[in-house]
Amino acid sequence: MTIPNETYVGTPRQRVDGRAKVTGAATYAAEFTAPDLAYGYVVSGAIAKGTITAIDSSAALAMPGVLHVFTHENRPRTAWLSSNFRDEVAPPGSPFRALYDKHIVYSGQPVALVVAEDFDTARDAAALVRVTYDTEAHATDLDQERAKAYVPPKKRSGIEPPPKPRGDAPGAYDAAPFKLRQEYRISPEHHNPMEPHATTVVWDGDGAITVHDKIQGVQNSQTYITNVFGLSKDKVRVVSPFVGGGFGSGLRPQYQLYLAVMASLALERSVRVVLTRDQMFTFGYRPGTINTLSLGADAQGALQSITHEAVAGTSHFEDYQEVVVNWSGGTYHCDNVSFDYKLAKLDTYTPADMRAPGAPLGMFALESAMDEMAEALHLDPLEFRLRNYAETDENTGNPFTSKALREAYRQGAEQFGWSRRNHTPRSMKEGHELVGWGMATGMWEAQMQQTSARATLWPDGRLEVACATADIGTGTYTILTQIAADSLGVGMDQVSVKIGDSSLPTSPVQGGSWTAASAGAAVQAACFKARESLLDAAQKMDGSPLADATADQVVFANGRMTLRDDAARAVSYADAMRAAGLDTLAVEETVKPDPKVQKSFSSYTHSAVFVEVRVDEELGVVRVTRVVDAVAAGRILNPLTARSQIIGGVVFGIGMALTEETMADHALGRFMNHNLAEYHVPSNADIQGIEVIFVEENDSKTSPMGVKGLGEIGIVGTAAAIANAIHHATGRRVRSLPITIDKVL
Ligand code: MOS
Repeated sequence: MTIPNETYVGTPRQRVDGRAKVTGAATYAAEFTAPDLAYGYVVSGAIAKGTITAIDSSAALAMPGVLHVFTHENRPRTAWLSSNFRDEVAPPGSPFRALYDKHIVYSGQPVALVVAEDFDTARDAAALVRVTYDTEAHATDLDQERAKAYVPPKKRSGIEPPPKPRGDAPGAYDAAPFKLRQEYRISPEHHNPMEPHATTVVWDGDGAITVHDKIQGVQNSQTYITNVFGLSKDKVRVVSPFVGGGFGSGLRPQYQLYLAVMASLALERSVRVVLTRDQMFTFGYRPGTINTLSLGADAQGALQSITHEAVAGTSHFEDYQEVVVNWSGGTYHCDNVSFDYKLAKLDTYTPADMRAPGAPLGMFALESAMDEMAEALHLDPLEFRLRNYAETDENTGNPFTSKALREAYRQGAEQFGWSRRNHTPRSMKEGHELVGWGMATGMWEAQMQQTSARATLWPDGRLEVACATADIGTGTYTILTQIAADSLGVGMDQVSVKIGDSSLPTSPVQGGSWTAASAGAAVQAACFKARESLLDAAQKMDGSPLADATADQVVFANGRMTLRDDAARAVSYADAMRAAGLDTLAVEETVKPDPKVQKSFSSYTHSAVFVEVRVDEELGVVRVTRVVDAVAAGRILNPLTARSQIIGGVVFGIGMALTEETMADHALGRFMNHNLAEYHVPSNADIQGIEVIFVEENDSKTSPMGVKGLGEIGIVGTAAAIANAIHHATGRRVRSLPITIDKVL
């Protein structure tokens, strides 16, 4: 095994794609163009449930420039009619099929696609499409439907169902001197990436298409298209080098992809379909979730019993599942724990993964309840958590691959100044504002996935690494550049990274915080394999100075192989390749998680979040003035992009805590606040100091490079820490998110 030549990994590096992004040179799905491009505009349905009785497209079709109006009555037959294809991340059930038949299953459902010579014509004509309906009674209110909640009959692939109960949670609860049972609620939320969902299908002729899709996994879209339309893989290439944020909305192919491809194949022409901001509220969302948490503790602050029950909304056609309650069995030591996770069917679209799916919901409940219990026990909330520190994963009985949470608590508390906290609520005040300090624990699964990558080296030292993963703003281009440069001993400026193209080596979607661990390891493995080929070529040269060298005696740096102990004995990559008659050297490698580790260990990232809020005593306005997030996430590849991931997650958590809420009018069965004026995400003025600490954590098991992933941990725990800080400031415990002014006053 050769020793990696580390120059770039672990050091702060600006994004290699940053300049392209800020200058507009980076091309997004709706910016690719083609000669003779036609434009599709979606007509969204107006009712929540029922049937379409008629669609009158005549006025739309009469408009000059309109090419076609697709509806369920005239849409082309597709392979979908005879298959029930489910994409890579689909939950159990039967995926929604746009324009499939006359049935309306949720409000906002696409009912027609108007295609015209230009966008404005398509949009104007869409307004002329007349749809009439027979309405049926709908149900979209989780509170009403929770009585009919059920345990999902089929497990969703990749999602752990609740663990088996341990001990006797109800008995221990009854016997505990300190008990608490409360309900904690989270409203539905929508992802709202900056870039709306969009697809540009370029008609290449002969039934072949190149598809530019806003997606977190190009091969997921490719597989979807080939299955749904019955096309062979060589006819469909999906190319999406840049993604303007995803947060999970781009994990599954969305209906605009289906509509754009359908129209392109039918018209034999290039077609673009872009969803409007309000149409971004007509597919997956973070489900509204009601948690009931019961805690029992003894007078010394040892947890005696935990019960976590949750019910979340899903659609009538899919059983969307995420991990909500399991966290309550793995975060702290407790011998008596039970879980219950149920779904309630609603007349909405199927919910979707949204940044750290499930975790910030379950952890909001657990970490709020822990704060309430600490207060009842007259214990410092941090001290209470330390007294119940979990040394192993008690859900499985497995040891952790690594867990530096204790150190995260320590460093976070020190940086924040937690020891100066006066534990009495409403005890800290400045001017007209009440000051509150709160904290919470965060936890997220650290995963790696099977991923392939190719490394191609030229004699002049240029290196290209390629993998069909994505960069949804996470910094993938940059860390892969760093890893490739170090692994093969070339400069970062000699490396180019190719991702976001279905023709590249196989990768899963970018999600689950697994990309750095997975694509990173694949790139490293491919580069290491290239080193073997280079050394082999060097050793076969006549009179090779490295003839008797073993791999670990050779340093690969600056485009040369040099004997570690004798710098005079060296061969350049160029000479080795020339001697072997190679114009380029291309190798591909595949990495997989270690099944032994997966079976015998648990792997999580952890965080300790400390928050200061200031609450206007008369107005109830909450400002988050200070956040310290101490994160234990294994090896940090790039402190700059890593910090940005955590800050992004914390901002997301601030939105979750204070502003983000998709509100339904249950009389209409419809989400009502479908624009950024009414769905509030934090703006710059809402964000003040956020400090990120990366706690050292050596993890040799989770992934080959010791990486655990950072995309999601930043949101977990943040909303709970804010709610706890608001309680500390005001004495008011708010158990439903978002914590709007009306709930604070
Ligand atoms: Mo993330 S919700 O896995 O994009």
